[in-house]
Amino acid sequence: MIEISHVDKWYSPTFQVLTDCTTSVAKGEVVVVCGPSGSGKSTLIKCVNALEPFQKGDISIDGIKVNDPKTDLPKLRSRVGMVFQHFELFPHLKIIDNLCLAQEKVLGRAHDKAMTKGMALLDRVGLKEHAKKFPAQLSGGQQQRVAIARALAMDPIAMLFDEPTSALDPEMISEVLDVMVDLAREGMTMMVVTHEMGFARKVANRVIFMDRGEIVEDALKDDFFGKPRSDRAQKFLSKILSH
Ligand SMILES: Nc1ncnc2c1ncn2[C@@H]1O[C@H](COP(=O)(O)OP(=O)(O)O)[C@@H](O)[C@H]1O
Ligand SMILES: [Mg+2]
Repeated sequence: MIEISHVDKWYSPTFQVLTDCTTSVAKGEVVVVCGPSGSGKSTLIKCVNALEPFQKGDISIDGIKVNDPKTDLPKLRSRVGMVFQHFELFPHLKIIDNLCLAQEKVLGRAHDKAMTKGMALLDRVGLKEHAKKFPAQLSGGQQQRVAIARALAMDPIAMLFDEPTSALDPEMISEVLDVMVDLAREGMTMMVVTHEMGFARKVANRVIFMDRGEIVEDALKDDFFGKPRSDRAQKFLSKILSH
């Protein structure tokens, strides 16, 4: 579903942020991306739905090349759900309107259809009774569940998550992870930047470890947690698992 092939990216002529990144995510597969801060995880995931350009290599989603100038990027992006650390809901729109906006504007869905879909998804993430509230009236965990529901309203062929729980208070992390675990078990194709190794153990097929712009490790989950091949991944893992 997602093919990343020999991607190099520079933010400036002297700063290469991604070096020869190659990996793929098959349909229905869940791939967790981890690694130290600044290693290029967000940049890589943004390249996948063309929020960031890259200079070398290729990325395709469902066979459509992201870096082909002829590709209709708004259309492609509408098919790939993206969930960020900071929710990015529209603060001036009610929760249900947050869910309807892109369905109507981008997919051209009729308002009543968008509403029905939006309410069903709010129900699914346990927030139906909050439909008429504004984002600021919800907790961080609730807002992030809205953000996931909003992405799902577009019938995405894949979902990208960039540290979706790292801005949340500890007691809210599991309510968001529970939604993500359900999604994974239903067969959604997911690429998830996270350091929640409990989530990775539960649902990931593979774990990718990045360091300094490179994919240092790309392993089946059990191999990764059993014993990472590289010293860098071993050190990283022992640090995040030791507390
Ligand atoms: N828009 C940008 N312009 C220049 N440098 C950037 C930009 N975004 C990120 N960087 C730098 O690129 C590197 C990788 O960043 P990022 O992809 O955010 O890493 P991670 O998500 O793994 O923490 C960091 O050194 C960061 O400071
Ligand atoms: Mg990041």
